[in-house]
Amino acid sequence: MDPLRKYPAIEDLHRRARKRIPRFAFDYLEGGAGDESGIDRNREALLEIRLIADYLEERTPPDLGVEVFGRKVDLPFGIAPVGLSGLMWPRSAEYLASAAKDANAVFCLSTVASSGVERIGGLMQEGSWFQLYPIREVEKEDDLLKRAWDAGFRVLTPTVDIPAPARRLRDFRNGLTVPPEMTIGNIISILAHPTWALATLAAGPPKFESLMPYFPKGVTYKSVGQMIETLAEGQIDWRRIERYRKIWPGTLAVKGVLSVGDARRAREAGCDGLLVSNHGGRQLDGLVSPIDVLPAIRETVGPDMTLVVDSGLRSGTDIVRAYAKGADFTLLGRAFFYGVGALGRPGAAHAIEVLKAEVFAALQQLGCPNMAAAPRYLAE
Ligand SMILES: Cc1cc2nc3c(=O)[nH]c(=O)nc-3n(C[C@H](O)[C@H](O)[C@H](O)COP(=O)(O)O)c2cc1C
Repeated sequence: MDPLRKYPAIEDLHRRARKRIPRFAFDYLEGGAGDESGIDRNREALLEIRLIADYLEERTPPDLGVEVFGRKVDLPFGIAPVGLSGLMWPRSAEYLASAAKDANAVFCLSTVASSGVERIGGLMQEGSWFQLYPIREVEKEDDLLKRAWDAGFRVLTPTVDIPAPARRLRDFRNGLTVPPEMTIGNIISILAHPTWALATLAAGPPKFESLMPYFPKGVTYKSVGQMIETLAEGQIDWRRIERYRKIWPGTLAVKGVLSVGDARRAREAGCDGLLVSNHGGRQLDGLVSPIDVLPAIRETVGPDMTLVVDSGLRSGTDIVRAYAKGADFTLLGRAFFYGVGALGRPGAAHAIEVLKAEVFAALQQLGCPNMAAAPRYLAE
């Protein structure tokens, strides 16, 4: 049966992915910080946005293409950076980067994805995005940035919303450390998910490929978690952003901005854009939803700065809602991993197809000719 009929929405992929991925890995993908009310708030904020259609106006077929950071792409949404990608599904970053390339869409690689900059650089279009978790030692960070540039990444998105480790209770309860603790529960869960287990066996345990050159020789898989903690710089301030502005020749967009103060600082430091995000509700349950702070941030930074929104988007209608509220571009994290978790490699393109069909249908229904016109369809 045509997968678009069998799995017509991200929710269908979500349900199947839940069955195919072991519990501790699915909880890592799905979970949020604290009581997880931040995840619900992200959904509620989007659902609050109502659109209004113009049925009698003359219509043209909708154009889904947008220009973001100087690159023309065919889709108004991209794939957000997701760390430990191989835990949810082996080679998921490769599958997603290739599907994004085929669709002429944006893919953003995480510093701590299982696949490294060189591997993904070989699969994607030049101009892709690289998310940076700052590295404590400047020489190592310089080297990583050079490797990312040489691999063809042109948009750098340093993430600022992890000044301290998040309290993700599902991960605590499941013993999800790096590497995962082999508790009886986790072993049973692996055995109950043979497709995942075999694919993981074939691909080997998830790595942090971009960071491996910076681990001391002979580091064992068991000590990788500790190594990451030693390498990464949690707290970063605007001086660090100024440093990136000096050394990164491409586009710079800070990820994780929610306050107008940070937005102003980032603009003063010379950033080209902001990723207005609360990390999908994964850092603190009490944080405001990005969509709710978007208008104030827009007012602060003016019309020229590119504002990308993520956190909680699950459908094409959500994407149109975010544009109607003033977003210049959108990213989705979990939705694409539900796709790969549900269907493996073809799930990457399938999730893209679902969202594309939904955006198209929403624009057709509204009578909206393109994404830039979406704010006209916002109901007061
Ligand atoms: C499993 C998982 C891992 C993530 N890892 C990273 C990461 O390494 N770096 C980062 O900046 N954001 C990371 N994020 C946040 C995403 O980039 C994005 O902000 C978030 O997923 C958007 O919310 P959504 O999942 O509701 O679409 C991660 C999100 C998830 C779900």
